[in-house]
Amino acid sequence: PRLFALVPCAGVGERAGAGGPKQYARVAGRSLVAHTLAALAAVERLSGVMVVLSPGDAQFEQAAPGYTGWVERVGGATRAESVAQGLAALVDHGAQPHDWVLVHDAARCLLQPAWVDALIDACQDDEVGGLLALPVPDTLKQEAGGRVSATVERAGKWQAQTPQMFRLGLLRPALVQAGAAVTDEASAIEALGHAPKLVRGALENFKVTYPQDFELAERLLRTR
Ligand code: CTP
Ligand code: MG
Repeated sequence: PRLFALVPCAGVGERAGAGGPKQYARVAGRSLVAHTLAALAAVERLSGVMVVLSPGDAQFEQAAPGYTGWVERVGGATRAESVAQGLAALVDHGAQPHDWVLVHDAARCLLQPAWVDALIDACQDDEVGGLLALPVPDTLKQEAGGRVSATVERAGKWQAQTPQMFRLGLLRPALVQAGAAVTDEASAIEALGHAPKLVRGALENFKVTYPQDFELAERLLRTR
């Protein structure tokens, strides 16, 4: 089986408040998505990389000069829809059901090739596939009306990152079934009764989401 990376890059970046899609904001000399794609380009086992843009995107080419992978302007209203459309495009490019797809957020621009390699090593002989994730560090509270109604058991809770690696032939129907609202691939796979493998990610593999995240990303990228 071959391995492909699929990069959803069609969000509007509402929470980041960057005055435009956050994936095109610049940190440490280039756009977030350019950093992301450079990391994926360094993963030798990938047979191809596909970026999913909004149909009206006018910024990608300038933001990612030198990118030579596939570009598909088929993004949807939610991340799940963008990924589902990207998977369909991968099929059009000849990807087979047994091929692996590694879905990675454009906004996780601190990605290191070694983490992708670790995920591939851990999952390529697995029945289901898996994802990078980290154990939750903080005590968790259940809220009800602005007050704590319960303390949630933290032990055994992980926060999901990307890449998330599943076979095309499993992920496509899983996302169709799961609908537009799921926020990651693993939850769609879980809904079919499968148990994705948890592979330890890195604190640095955070998703640029809020305004403060740009500064942190900048500092970390500059000191590499
Ligand atoms: N994404 C996408 N299509 C969408 C929504 C999100 O391809 N309709 C992508 C984003 O571009 C990002 C990744 O999915 O790379 C993770 O999503 P998120 O961090 O939620 O980004 P945004 O949706 O852009 O941000 P926000 O939710 O704050 O608006
Ligand atoms: Mg979003």
